[in-house]
Amino acid sequence: MKIFIDTANIDEIKEAFSWGIVDGVTTNPSLIKKAVNYYKEKGKTFTMEEYIKELLTFVGKGKPVSLEVIGNTEDAMYKEAHILFDKFNNIASNVVIKIPVNPETERGGARLFDGLKVIRRLHEDGIPVNVTLIMNPLQALLAAKAGADYVSPFAGRIDNYLRTNAKIGFEKHDYYPAEGVEWGEKLLSDDGIVSGVDLVASIRDIFDNYEFETKILAASVRNARQVRELAEVGADIATIPFTVLKEMIWHYKTSEGMKKFAADTVEEYRTLFNK
Ligand code: E4P
Repeated sequence: MKIFIDTANIDEIKEAFSWGIVDGVTTNPSLIKKAVNYYKEKGKTFTMEEYIKELLTFVGKGKPVSLEVIGNTEDAMYKEAHILFDKFNNIASNVVIKIPVNPETERGGARLFDGLKVIRRLHEDGIPVNVTLIMNPLQALLAAKAGADYVSPFAGRIDNYLRTNAKIGFEKHDYYPAEGVEWGEKLLSDDGIVSGVDLVASIRDIFDNYEFETKILAASVRNARQVRELAEVGADIATIPFTVLKEMIWHYKTSEGMKKFAADTVEEYRTLFNK
């Protein structure tokens, strides 16, 4: 499974890349806002253009960086996708454009299929597309059929949705079981999907049935255990927040083991390294 970092904060990106295990970056308007506020508080000033150029240059060739459009009509999203791609892809050939699967805010609205139309047009233009805000397997199927390079199912937001609907209190990073939660004698589900990990597993089954090449980029990741489950069900990529990446490496017994090895190191052995 590839690992992307889910942040627009260059300090976090630089540190995570120094660990040698990060294959790409995802951003969205909320993550950009968080990064901008973080640097404003530190008194740093820059234009968005300079910032994105620095980010893309640092990440480099072969490591995709997703940049999202902000429009909600076919024309606006298509135009913005070209602005982002044409302005920035020449820097390191690593720009992927994020398009919402469906930009409509109302059920049955006129723009329900505008996302798919833009995905198809960008695919024909040769621009790589990451389809975002995937909340059910059918949206992933439609996005793949439209020519998406990546689909981003929002695992954590589905877990939140299930808990919120059932009025179960939770903190953002709380674990939600992949196999779902029994509540009042029934298994909580969103049209048969019982968790964010289950959403990813269902998309995996569908893509494998029809040999779609679209990559499953599991997003909205909340904790390390969820990352493990996403890997178990065959996500191609997980985009992981900085704090969750840090959570993945730690285990109490590893630290305890290190202390014991340090305490047991005899002088005879230590002299080997005293050159
Ligand atoms: C990344 O592609 C997504 O935009 C991101 O993972 C969403 O995460 P959130 O649900 O924590 O906002």
